[in-house]
Amino acid sequence: MSAMGDSIGNAHAMAANAQSLAELKAALEAFNGCALKRTATNTVFADGTPAGGILFIGEAPGRDEDRIGKPFVGRAGQLLDKMLLSIGLDRNVNAYITNVINWRPPDNRDPSSEEAAQCLPFLRRHIELAEPQLIVLLGAVAARHVVGGCEGIMKLRGRWMEYRIGGYNVPLMPTLHPAYLLRQPAHKKLAWRDLQAIATRMEEIGLPRVPMRAN
Ligand code: URA
Repeated sequence: MSAMGDSIGNAHAMAANAQSLAELKAALEAFNGCALKRTATNTVFADGTPAGGILFIGEAPGRDEDRIGKPFVGRAGQLLDKMLLSIGLDRNVNAYITNVINWRPPDNRDPSSEEAAQCLPFLRRHIELAEPQLIVLLGAVAARHVVGGCEGIMKLRGRWMEYRIGGYNVPLMPTLHPAYLLRQPAHKKLAWRDLQAIATRMEEIGLPRVPMRAN
């Protein structure tokens, strides 16, 4: 088997062995099959509260996330927190956050499809173990690697899809990435529309929401 095939095979085996989120985090920290790990400071696994039932999946850690070891802690993360709060979500209470890629790509370049393929078995197992009832994909890279196909994020955003895992389908919606919204604030209204649809779906499923703060 090629080195590439080996690393993906190892990722599958190590991810499948993990029986809890803590074991999966440890497996990821022990996995050396993705070259991005060599240039990264930290393995970025997740942040937040899986028990809230809603999972947000971003692209890859940036500089701040690499330094701190948690996803979405920089400027994009601050906007994400505001977006979450607008629909009664708080990562410390009822929202869970991870990325497709667990190590920072040098200079924040787009991850390659090989790098994504090496991380995806861990993401899949992550979803299985976290048991979300709703999944939100943040941005084009997450949509490309989780949904596949060749449609761009502007076509995919706001559309309900299903993610099949462990014998059941989880509703999934791609939306715009907060870093993109920082560059294109005029598109915040599209993300707002998506957030409203997500809030409605949360209501229907009966997912808990934190009281909104006036500020
Ligand atoms: N952008 C992402 O997609 N993920 C992070 O964790 C930070 C920025």
